[in-house]
Amino acid sequence: MRRHHLFEFTELAACPKVLRQLVTGYLEAIVATCRPYLSHSHLLADAMRSTGTSRLVDLCSGEGGPWFNLVRHLEQEVGEPVTVVLTDKFPSREATARAASVRGLEYWGESVDARRVPEQLQGVRTLFNGFHHFRPADAQAILQDAVAKRQPIAIFEMLERTWLALLQVLFAPLSVLVLTPLVRPVTWWRLVLTYLLPVAPLLVLWDSVVSVLRCYRPEELRGMTERIGGAYHWEAGRYWRHCMPVTYLIGYPDPAPPVDRADT
Ligand SMILES: C[S@@+](CC[C@H](N)C(=O)[O-])C[C@H]1O[C@@H](n2cnc3c(N)ncnc32)[C@H](O)[C@@H]1O
Repeated sequence: MRRHHLFEFTELAACPKVLRQLVTGYLEAIVATCRPYLSHSHLLADAMRSTGTSRLVDLCSGEGGPWFNLVRHLEQEVGEPVTVVLTDKFPSREATARAASVRGLEYWGESVDARRVPEQLQGVRTLFNGFHHFRPADAQAILQDAVAKRQPIAIFEMLERTWLALLQVLFAPLSVLVLTPLVRPVTWWRLVLTYLLPVAPLLVLWDSVVSVLRCYRPEELRGMTERIGGAYHWEAGRYWRHCMPVTYLIGYPDPAPPVDRADT
């Protein structure tokens, strides 16, 4: 299946915040229910060990994505406290307040473009369900920036560009109806726009179909990394977790080769 870069409603500058939150709230509920990244948190741990850091810098964080659940799990995986700095081109005030109440999470107050991350934001870069938003040249720029600054990067998409995944997202409206009671905070507008007027199910359906069509395949991700170079270890792949397909790419600086003392 070819990649198509159609528009997503939630990306449009004119999309009202309430409609955007219908989609992000649903995504958060599905991530909290299916926990699609927990089984592969060792990949994050590997990236952290590669540079000996306990800090992560999440890009395109939106409302925080999976981190509210993932941070404690990752601490157990690495056996030490971790700090996650959430960032976005358009930082979320609501998520900033929420992150402040969770140990180890903080939301960066200034706008951060994933293609040009400021030098002071050092740590393993993560990007959950955000990479498919970028066209190939911008996607490559995100990887290039991480390599240029010698920072590890981990990309996870709860998506896969296959016919099966496309068929699966056709059931997204049903899933919205089932999961909406789990979305916090419970608001009257979310209930009205889900159960009285089917705005949320239709929005999620469109954005999910477009996301599947935009998702990069592991071989395309590998192709991007081959064009970058830079003595990096790269690993791209896919897996299924609780009926959810996940595509991922991990990259971190290759360890320096051991110095051969006999040569010195
Ligand atoms: C799908 S949403 C959030 C995904 C979130 N990580 C999650 O798992 O729910 C994508 C986010 O990317 C942000 N974004 C778009 N372009 C960006 C850029 N160039 N740099 C950083 N963030 C960007 C948007 O503001 C939006 O919050």
